[in-house]
Amino acid sequence: MSDAGTNAGGAKTGGRRGFGTKIGFIMAAAGSAVGLGNLIRFPYITGEYGGGAFVLVYIAAVLLVGLPLMFSELILGQQGKSGIMGAIRNLTSHCGIASTIMSISTGLLAVITCCMFLAFYSVLGGWTLHYLFGSIGFPGVEIALSKEAFEGFQKNLQLNIVWHSVFMLLTTLVVAGGVQNGIERLCNLLMPMLILFLIGLLGYVAYEGWLNQAVSFLFTPDFSRLSPKAFLDALGQAFFSLSIGMGTMVIYGSYMKQRGTVVRDGVAVSFVDTGIALLGGMVIFSILFSAGQKPDQGLGLLFVTLPNLFAELPAGSVLSIFFFALVVFAAWSSSISLLEVPVSFLIEEFNLSRRLAAALFGLAIWGLGMGCAVSLDFLNQLDSIVSLYLLPLGGMLVAIIVGWMVKADPRDQGFTGRDSGASPLSRCWLFTLRFISPVLIVLILLYKFELLDWLLASSK
Ligand code: TRP
Repeated sequence: MSDAGTNAGGAKTGGRRGFGTKIGFIMAAAGSAVGLGNLIRFPYITGEYGGGAFVLVYIAAVLLVGLPLMFSELILGQQGKSGIMGAIRNLTSHCGIASTIMSISTGLLAVITCCMFLAFYSVLGGWTLHYLFGSIGFPGVEIALSKEAFEGFQKNLQLNIVWHSVFMLLTTLVVAGGVQNGIERLCNLLMPMLILFLIGLLGYVAYEGWLNQAVSFLFTPDFSRLSPKAFLDALGQAFFSLSIGMGTMVIYGSYMKQRGTVVRDGVAVSFVDTGIALLGGMVIFSILFSAGQKPDQGLGLLFVTLPNLFAELPAGSVLSIFFFALVVFAAWSSSISLLEVPVSFLIEEFNLSRRLAAALFGLAIWGLGMGCAVSLDFLNQLDSIVSLYLLPLGGMLVAIIVGWMVKADPRDQGFTGRDSGASPLSRCWLFTLRFISPVLIVLILLYKFELLDWLLASSK
């Protein structure tokens, strides 16, 4: 069935496409991680939960659950040399029937999750296209500059349908043509530009004296604002933003050289991802507070605040085009990595051609996404099911597989980059992966469903 030499770049080359440079790998994986999760979803949920305390819980989730799982997914791919289902099968074959059960269930879960994820993600991606074309001044495409106008835009079914279709088509074409490589190379250029652009904006808001309030909002914890759901939301956001929990990072890991540690790259990707979320948050909230507005503005934060700033700046329209082009690329490179999971599943497990696989899933996801394009409720529901339950569930399975089932040799080799033996750091990681990450995920779920109190009370 699976050919370990079938790679996600399309051709069956007998060997996986490698990344020429370390920084090239980091930028490509960061291209998947950095997306609308950082620029739309992070400020949106942080605003809902009142800032500081949520940011703290979010960072804890990244460190205690996100990072160990990022390493695990990269190691699965690097040592298993395949997409998620094949990699689990290759690395746990000594476990007999447990290997079959785990590889099939985790692999299928990843495929289903990616499809549901991309369905709503593509609608959000469509909004970024709308804003890019609006900035360019495309006839008939207008940018909403107030919260109310943006809500009107969100409910405009025709626009949603058109932009979602265009965005999905762009994603499918790239994956069908197997030219992700090109987009990823472009990301090498665009990712640093996005960072520089945000730093430039940060400098501007600091110069105007708007930054203080945003910094104290984001970094002064007020724990009274945290509900049980906040913990689950922070966990879900960590999975969403780092691109973990459904096999995307396994594919990137499978491109890595088999010798060498995944730790540095995993840390770099997570650092860039979290840094961009915080940078974006500081800029967006500075602008918002300077206009005397409240932080709980919903999904429109990015779309309403920044265009308002651009409208005031000299050369604002050029800045607006430039900025939304960067955001479109960030969303596009993420959506490509999402579609790649089901497509490489069909290629590896069923020997389908890349074009057919991309067309089939592209069409199915477009259809499901139509539901999100016409109903914001459905979009939010899909987002919740995926981020709050399916991604953590997928992450927990990966923690169990890498923590308990994969043999020590490949596991430690991937972590330390050495031929044999564990290191103090790898033992720490293994402990976290075996005991802390999965237990935290279960506890947070129990807490959210108010089962924790009940369990504690009934055990007395
Ligand atoms: N991380 C991306 C974002 O922040 C979204 C994404 C791409 C993703 N691939 C993923 C999320 C895989 C979870 C799993 O926008």
